[in-house]
Amino acid sequence: MVLVKSLKAREILDSRGEPTVEVELCAENGVFFAMVPSGASAGSHEALEMRDGEKRFGGKGVLKAVKNVNEVIAKKIVGRDAGRQKEIDEAMLELDGTENKGRLGANAVLPVSIACLKAAAAAKGKKVFEYVGELAGVNACVLPVPQLNVMNGGKHAGQENDVQEHMLMPVGAKNYAEGLRMACETYQALKKILKKKFGARGTLIGDEGGFVPPVANVEGRLELMAQAAREAGWEKEVVFALDCASTEFYKDGVYTIGDKRFSSGELADYYSQLVARFPVVSIEDGMSEDDWEGWQELTRKIGGKTQVVGDDLLVTNAERIKKAVELKAVNSALIKVNQIGSVSETLDAIVEARKSKWSVVVSHRSGETEDAFIADLVVGVNGGQSKFGAPARSDRNAKYNELLRIEEALGAKAKYLGRKFRG
Ligand code: PGA
Ligand code: ZN
Repeated sequence: MVLVKSLKAREILDSRGEPTVEVELCAENGVFFAMVPSGASAGSHEALEMRDGEKRFGGKGVLKAVKNVNEVIAKKIVGRDAGRQKEIDEAMLELDGTENKGRLGANAVLPVSIACLKAAAAAKGKKVFEYVGELAGVNACVLPVPQLNVMNGGKHAGQENDVQEHMLMPVGAKNYAEGLRMACETYQALKKILKKKFGARGTLIGDEGGFVPPVANVEGRLELMAQAAREAGWEKEVVFALDCASTEFYKDGVYTIGDKRFSSGELADYYSQLVARFPVVSIEDGMSEDDWEGWQELTRKIGGKTQVVGDDLLVTNAERIKKAVELKAVNSALIKVNQIGSVSETLDAIVEARKSKWSVVVSHRSGETEDAFIADLVVGVNGGQSKFGAPARSDRNAKYNELLRIEEALGAKAKYLGRKFRG
């Protein structure tokens, strides 16, 4: 039992210099913080991120969400036992009373939910990942195979009609720390190649720390990544993943990448060719958020061998996951805590995905903070894969570094799935 003594929210800045919410929770056993991330290519089925819509910060202020924590949520949560995660989350859902957290804002509910979890973990003398494991009913010991976004495109790089993320996965490593080193060495090799080829312009970076060189197409970017892996000496150990974020280049039944236009079927064929030509083992958001038939076709065509990950399609929502299971639309779920807005609902989404033996990828947002909770979450649920951006900038490296600490703490108990990353 650990009573919440006070809750205080404030407006802070995220990695893009935009406002977000931080909660400071005082409990009997100490002070705990949680911060909210924010997406740029957000799905339309996500829980509501409450923005003020007033002049300050170009409409992006979060003072309404802050007020909702300080004046509405605090009344309901102060005095409760932070160790009762489900009850805390349900109390906030009841208070909100909408389907999408439209009254309070997911950015008000989520940090309270996470701060309670951190307080409860400390009260039990557990590390955060261990306590998440207790909530999830698993023996938390699996370090994720990271997907590192080393080349940014699309909305994260000011580009239109473009694939968003080109990622490295160090599947040939024997543990997480070695995998991180392989990925970093490949990232640095890529930087050298880009500098030589394009000069200083080639190594500018996007929202998630990946490079944004003047290379317009996916094939060109994957070739440069392959060259970097070769030059780093990790050609056999590193494979690739893409997040197309295709909702961003879909309109009226047509997908546009660069100057090419595709129907869903043609796009699925294009991806089939990509996975045949490059070591691409995972494709996220290959189809748009409501193009269920396109998703089915894609999974039929490449889902046997390739991981087909739903992000904007599923929005960490157990109900949408159930629908995707019925329709055989994907074989993997991306998990983002602020898409659904509470710890308990995030865990429900993971359980739902797991029922169908899907893989699970725990993910950051393009707008991040120094809060490393998702590193604890991915190990806590034995998630197996993470997506935290490039190994650059401390908003991303806060998570990678937290995983190094967790692997060290687990010692001989730590597991790394490597080539069996899909579980
Ligand atoms: P977002 O991008 O945080 O801007 O939505 C990340 C993703 O699409 O996975
Ligand atoms: Zn995505």
